Amino acid sequence: MQKRPLGNSSLTISAIGLGCMGMSEFYGATNDAESILTLNTALDEGINFLDTADVYGPFKNEELVGKVVRKRRDEVVIATKFGIVRDPNEPAKRGFSGRPEYVKACCDASLKRLGIDTIDLYYQHRVDPTTPIEETVGAMSDLVKEGKVRYLGLSEASAQTIQRAHAVHPISAVQSEYSLWSRDIEEAVIPKCKELGITLVAYSPLGRGFLTGQFQKYEDLAPDDFRRNSPRFMGENFDKNIAIVQLLTRWAEARGITPSQLALAWVLAQGETIVPIPGTKRVSYLKQNLEAVDIMLSKEELAELDRISPKEAVAGTRYVEAMMKFLNG
Ligand SMILES: NC(=O)c1ccc[n+]([C@@H]2O[C@H](COP(=O)([O-])OP(=O)(O)OC[C@H]3O[C@@H](n4cnc5c(N)ncnc54)[C@H](OP(=O)(O)O)[C@@H]3O)[C@@H](O)[C@H]2O)c1
Repeated sequence: MQKRPLGNSSLTISAIGLGCMGMSEFYGATNDAESILTLNTALDEGINFLDTADVYGPFKNEELVGKVVRKRRDEVVIATKFGIVRDPNEPAKRGFSGRPEYVKACCDASLKRLGIDTIDLYYQHRVDPTTPIEETVGAMSDLVKEGKVRYLGLSEASAQTIQRAHAVHPISAVQSEYSLWSRDIEEAVIPKCKELGITLVAYSPLGRGFLTGQFQKYEDLAPDDFRRNSPRFMGENFDKNIAIVQLLTRWAEARGITPSQLALAWVLAQGETIVPIPGTKRVSYLKQNLEAVDIMLSKEELAELDRISPKEAVAGTRYVEAMMKFLNG
């Protein structure tokens, strides 16, 4: 597995990480035994960069990932997040907090659930519009001084917020949605990360699974699947988007790769400071995805893909309207 330096740190991460969210929530039925096998296989294959958050489950995903991480601690760079507030009794509701006392309480709780002494990379999951970023990052910086956290990250932060945060404490990673059809961060966030030596961690690089071609119709999503309420998977948007996926699938097949590998190779081709974290709970998908590291797309091929799937072609927003205003904050 190829490795990349984690921005502004002494750590090295695999060129592809593993997103663990779907192992516990959102994307249909879960199976802890298969997920644990997937986590162990990832580590065996040299994928050392695991991504979780307190909010996934809620809380269950950290507990699950912790079962593997605590046994193989030296092989893992573990990233987790705080900042999205969920009430287990009303899981659909979302709040946001970056208050210093909240940050510190969340960190202690995450360490306990993961069963480890130090979090390698601790992200603020969403920028809290009611708490100045300096206060939140100040509290995160205290966690570094206390030895509870090694490096800091932000998720879905604007270029301006990244700059302000970085002035308080070096930021190592910014995690944002980035894929063939989520490219809004190319304008300001990616250039800012490059300028400040920050790794861009690309979440949902498979378009939440849409770009893999596994969903040909809305009904292919399980009845309780979160994506049934996601604008890109709904109504006319689904029909428009599946037409693009079918073109990409044909292109990938002609190239002798799978659509998932194409989506990941495209992200990897955007630069060595960008690390995708595809999510899966299955060993078979994991093995297919990690092969993408060795697929090189030429300039001509990238231009062709831009023609097949221009960045503005995708129909529907990334999240429902109420959540959109908390992106790139
Ligand atoms: N910071 C944030 O706000 C944020 C938001 C969303 C996600 N994330 C992180 O990013 C990670 C990845 O994003 P994501 O999981 O939302 O989306 P994704 O990686 O774009 O797609 C995941 C979906 O693709 C499917 N899949 C994976 N590999 C496949 C393959 N080779 N063939 C067919 N289907 C395949 C998975 O199926 P199975 O589930 O059946 O394996 C799952 O349904 C998450 O796990 C999470 O850690 C962060």
